[in-house]
Amino acid sequence: MTIKTAPSVLSADFTRLGDEIKSTEVSGADMLHFDVMDGSFVDNISFGLPVLKSVRKATNLFLDAHLMIINPGKFASAFCAAGADGVTFHLEACSTAAEVHDVIAQIKSCGKSAGLSIKPGTDPELLREFIPELDLVLVMTVMPGFGGQKFMESQLDATKTARRLITELNPSCALQVDGGINAQTAKLAVAAGADVLVAGSYFFGAEDRAEAIAALKRA
Ligand code: DX5
Ligand code: ZN
Repeated sequence: MTIKTAPSVLSADFTRLGDEIKSTEVSGADMLHFDVMDGSFVDNISFGLPVLKSVRKATNLFLDAHLMIINPGKFASAFCAAGADGVTFHLEACSTAAEVHDVIAQIKSCGKSAGLSIKPGTDPELLREFIPELDLVLVMTVMPGFGGQKFMESQLDATKTARRLITELNPSCALQVDGGINAQTAKLAVAAGADVLVAGSYFFGAEDRAEAIAALKRA
């Protein structure tokens, strides 16, 4: 399996954001992960549309927006228009299955990749009815809200279940993990079926960022 890497901008030095993005490119990363937090779905506030627009001007990397927000249908198209190449939202942020289908359709009608995420505690079997429509499933390996948390090994079972569902229903769908990923935990996640690795503190905190990407790709 080819492993893709997605450094999370959340751990970048925002005073030097342009340089941090260039560093992500030259290190060999495959995409840039953009964590949007609204203070309601999660207990933290990060950044949003104006920052994404600026980031879009600074790079040709695939921009992978992870919306940790309530009411994702209100903003999904706006994130597409601001320059995201893919938009991932949370199953837990939707009150009905119809809402999930609508948000997926909204993202796809913008010509962008649609992703659906579950956080720890959500049954991965709930992904089943949406997988045929998705480009990406994101299994969170920490409680969403903050970078720099410890990888939850208890999420490996959810990752395995998501891989089984993807193999059965839509093999071209990617399986991303996010939270606490480093060279060691990446191996566990990849063995459980992940093929896209988000890494925030591990990547931006590494002395040799190119080697950090290489280590993730070897996982
Ligand atoms: C957490 C975010 C993650 C976070 C990962 O809510 O979704 O993308 O930035 O950071 P690390 O890799 O430091 O756990
Ligand atoms: Zn994320």
